[in-house]
Amino acid sequence: MKIFITRKIPETGLEILKKYHDIKVNSYDGGLTKKEIIQGIKGKDGLLCLLTDQIDKEIIDSEPRLKMIANYAVGFDNIDVKTATRKGIPVSNTPGVLTDATSEMAWALLFSVSRRIVEADKFTRAGKFNGWSPMLMLGQDITNKTLGVIGTGRIGTAFALKSKGFGMNVLYVNRKRNEILEKELNAKKVKLEKLLKESDFISVHVPLTKSTSHLFSKREFQLMKENAVFINTSRGPVVDEKALIQALKDNWIFGAGIDVYENEPEVPEELKKLDNVVLQPHSASATFEARSKMAILAAENMIKGLKGEIPPNCVNPEVFKK
Ligand code: DGY
Repeated sequence: MKIFITRKIPETGLEILKKYHDIKVNSYDGGLTKKEIIQGIKGKDGLLCLLTDQIDKEIIDSEPRLKMIANYAVGFDNIDVKTATRKGIPVSNTPGVLTDATSEMAWALLFSVSRRIVEADKFTRAGKFNGWSPMLMLGQDITNKTLGVIGTGRIGTAFALKSKGFGMNVLYVNRKRNEILEKELNAKKVKLEKLLKESDFISVHVPLTKSTSHLFSKREFQLMKENAVFINTSRGPVVDEKALIQALKDNWIFGAGIDVYENEPEVPEELKKLDNVVLQPHSASATFEARSKMAILAAENMIKGLKGEIPPNCVNPEVFKK
């Protein structure tokens, strides 16, 4: 069968696909327009796409042969799953394999912001270091502080468990109780307001849905402690960026570590000017290991889906319940 891949992914996945199918990889190493994606999937049975591709109704409806959509990401808010389901097209994602990479990045940001690593690096390189000073680059202790985790799915749970060595008091917000965190860390499930008021570090790990869009707005930042460090490695629109900028500018919080943006790839100029924020280019899963395993998973999902079987990471299994 014929597969269109919207951008080059690691060879580990391409090799698997090539064994069974005829693949066409977009030769330009950049994002495609809607028109280009529609052109690309013409006559194709499978679409392997990225989180940066908005796969909407128009695209899905454009190719009657389309039988499978494999997303190269764990998040799948970029795909109109409803339309795919209505048309009987399975959609898959890549969970599990990027859990450690993403949760490690959340910790890297937490450390960078708390100890002002990026700011201090710039300061040192600029030749401003004139000798040890009692008040130079003061940051926040991490050990024995309160950690607030919002969303305790795979990534949120892995992130919280990595706090073990720091003896932290862990609070979490999640729809369901997280027995692993309660058993391993004596973590407490609390209401969002309590978590925001009491946490020294707040890390967000929720998917982007209607109910999480702008979950963090002015009110939420105002509830946070002045020394709070806010980390977002989930999806940009979960945060009202204007409110975040105000919170950082007016020192409502100590700082933030941000991997994702409201209107990617746009990064607000005002955010770039601030020293109390560390910015990443949506790279939380960017390790050789994770990206390679994501490619394998996307390929395996594609192969199963094209066989008419349920892909291992199908996000709309109802397609098969007939
Ligand atoms: C995902 O897979 O959803 C991540 O955001 C990729 O970094």
